[in-house]
Amino acid sequence: MATKKLTSGSGAPYFEHQDSQTVGPRGPVLLQDFILQENLAHFVRERIPERIVHAKGSGAYGKFTVTHDISKYTKAKLFSKVGNECRMFARFSTVGGEKGSADTERDPRGFALKFYTEDGNWDLVGNNTPVFFIKDAKKFPDFIHTQKRVPKTNLKSATMKWDFWSFNPESLHQVLILMSDRGTPYGYRHMHGFGSHTFSMINDANERVWVKFHFRSQQGIKNFTTEDAQQMKGENPDFAQEDLVDAIENGDFPKWTLFIQVMTEEQAQEFRWNPFDVTKVWFHDEFPLIEVGEMELNEIPNNFFAHVEQSTFSPSNLISGISFSPDKMLQGRLFSYPDAHRYRVGANSHLLEVNRCPFGFNNYQRDGAMADSSSYKDAPNYYPNSFDGVEPDSDYKNLDYDLDSTSVAHFNRNENDDDHYTQPGLLYTKAMTKEAREHLVKNIIESMNDISGPKKDEIINRQLCHFFRANIELGMKIALGLQVNIDADMITHSKNND
Ligand code: HEM
Repeated sequence: MATKKLTSGSGAPYFEHQDSQTVGPRGPVLLQDFILQENLAHFVRERIPERIVHAKGSGAYGKFTVTHDISKYTKAKLFSKVGNECRMFARFSTVGGEKGSADTERDPRGFALKFYTEDGNWDLVGNNTPVFFIKDAKKFPDFIHTQKRVPKTNLKSATMKWDFWSFNPESLHQVLILMSDRGTPYGYRHMHGFGSHTFSMINDANERVWVKFHFRSQQGIKNFTTEDAQQMKGENPDFAQEDLVDAIENGDFPKWTLFIQVMTEEQAQEFRWNPFDVTKVWFHDEFPLIEVGEMELNEIPNNFFAHVEQSTFSPSNLISGISFSPDKMLQGRLFSYPDAHRYRVGANSHLLEVNRCPFGFNNYQRDGAMADSSSYKDAPNYYPNSFDGVEPDSDYKNLDYDLDSTSVAHFNRNENDDDHYTQPGLLYTKAMTKEAREHLVKNIIESMNDISGPKKDEIINRQLCHFFRANIELGMKIALGLQVNIDADMITHSKNND
């Protein structure tokens, strides 16, 4: 019946797979049983470090199809004509939990996309939320520590989370989204995705616009309530993985429609908020959604570890016609992701199938752990040289942009950066239904009730002030739920925002 022989890693057939070689039937094991050694040694090297954030995730391949012409904004070849298609890979994830944590935790969801385009691989490493908790990369490690475990107890802590949020009011917008039912999406198919940051697009005439990316789920939004999400944590911690695998294996391919919002450089000068502040949205009536194309996921990779665990996405994987912006968070991310990949997967992670540019690449990076020379073989390893004909092309020169500062190095904030309240207030009053508001308030009260320790009242009062500033009703309802006596100072600042 057997059609293939069992072999060692070096390809040599062998027979004794289940019994170690011993001195007599009951004797000790011989060191010369190198098959035993090979299998044991490889086994203990099966793990690589999990992602420091977004460790639990699911991935799938698919395709992206351009349905509308946006070539007036970008010279990216993918968008040069309607009907263009490219292969892509998506990885969805929770953020704070470890690799084995439950899929239905209250958390933002990662929405990381890799487009294999003729211009090179373009990654959009976003979330299911249009905004983020902080707006400066310097705060990221401290923020993430609060979402993980207390150093002594190794337990998660509501005290730590709310302490950080209450000291960083720019988080309020995202906190309201997180605490709403959107914080517990029903798997990955029923959520929208966002590039969140402001990016730029550059057209053939080298004109730049600022852009935000929105992927709207064609499956529609569907969320768990807190109770259902809690229950599912026990019943099926891999709910989202199973939901995605089942849908795709059954031919029910999930789809998203890509839209962009466009802001001209002139509009950016006039915009009420800093257009590069990732805690703010651009209102749709001012900056309407422009339809671009469709993404479909249709293939579960044949090996999770090779394709999903070893996938590496970076906001710095940009292509001609799509670039970054002065967003401080985005700028920090340009450094942090490739750095993480070198640590987590290795200096040659870009050579792995899932990460590799299928259209080839020419450069002089060589060697290192796990180097695979199939793409450069014996080609010269230095530039300039007389042999390979590779030259930098001035068509791909970076476009300059005007900086708004003097030549002094700045640690300052922009004007209006302290308006952390108008948009969260509007989210509560205008974007949420009555039921969504009720769930939000209930979820916040339940979560804040877990704050404990000697600083409990201080943390609660500091955070309540932020809710009041966004909306008096919201502050009142939460204060009542927490049975806090409302101090007049808490609501003085909220007059214009109700
Ligand atoms: C993963 C850093 C903000 C979305 C990661 C990883 C790092 C990181 C180190 C792990 C990468 C890996 O091991 O492959 C940061 C820093 C941030 C930041 C320093 C702020 C300055 C954000 C924001 C978003 C985001 C604002 C979304 C808008 C993601 C996603 C992943 C990720 C989706 C998972 C990618 C995957 O599936 O492999 N981040 N992050 N991050 N981050 Fe961030």
